[in-house]
Amino acid sequence: MKNILEAPFMVEMIRTCTNMYDHGWDERNGGNISLLLSEEELAPYLDLKNVIRTLKTGFEAPALEGKYFLVTGTGKYFKNVQYAPDVNLGIVRIADGGQSAELLWGFTDGGRFTSEFPAHMMSHMARLAVDPENRVVEHCHPTNLLAMTFVHTLDEKAFTKSLWQMCTECVVVFPDGVGVLPWMLCGTNEIGQATADKMKDQRLVVWAQHGLYGAGKTLDEAFGLIETAEKAAEIYMKIAHLPRINTITDEQMKLLADYFGYKVREGYLDC
Ligand code: 13P
Ligand code: ZN
Repeated sequence: MKNILEAPFMVEMIRTCTNMYDHGWDERNGGNISLLLSEEELAPYLDLKNVIRTLKTGFEAPALEGKYFLVTGTGKYFKNVQYAPDVNLGIVRIADGGQSAELLWGFTDGGRFTSEFPAHMMSHMARLAVDPENRVVEHCHPTNLLAMTFVHTLDEKAFTKSLWQMCTECVVVFPDGVGVLPWMLCGTNEIGQATADKMKDQRLVVWAQHGLYGAGKTLDEAFGLIETAEKAAEIYMKIAHLPRINTITDEQMKLLADYFGYKVREGYLDC
């Protein structure tokens, strides 16, 4: 068997956790990541018949039966992932129609997957239904997006447009917009389902007064989405209290989307 700590997916996962911590988005145990892996990717590194423990999930996810995920552990600090990946991360295979997860590697201190496993798995199901290449769900607590949810209306259209107006490239990076959930109890199936409902047609979902979810084909893509939205929120928070003399107009945003070949979410411009 090859050394799993040298697997490209593991190296990239560790780098992403470290990078997110370094950006200040994952204080303490804040944030969680799940990465869908194929059997072919894993087979050189793990005996897939060796189930270490079986963990109950508390929800159903029939579409994910038999799928493998590399996922961060609950209560674990992103800061520490690089020093002890086998304690802070785990690889699970979804079983029993989603009601349990078979641990194949990691969580060596007896730990389990993130408390936000419902939101992750339900979001994976929602994204895979519209984009079979989706592999990643990332959750974190980016400072400026969080701050924005205290001072900006939570209306999705208005929230999205405010972000689009902050940097020229925003409308191109997330033309599908940003979903916004009101404050809800985290870690529950309810917030998981609500997040997944938004993920059906967009890849970013804000949890008011809590944080952000991003999805993508790669760890980089999900990270880049979050990074772009957070940058826009940072600019918003810098200028929200100042008179605005210039802006990016709807016409300019349409021009951008046309030029780069993206379709802007219907009904979000010219209103
Ligand atoms: P976990 O430590 O269970 O992953 O929770 C962190 C978090 O961000 C909850 O929303
Ligand atoms: Zn959180």
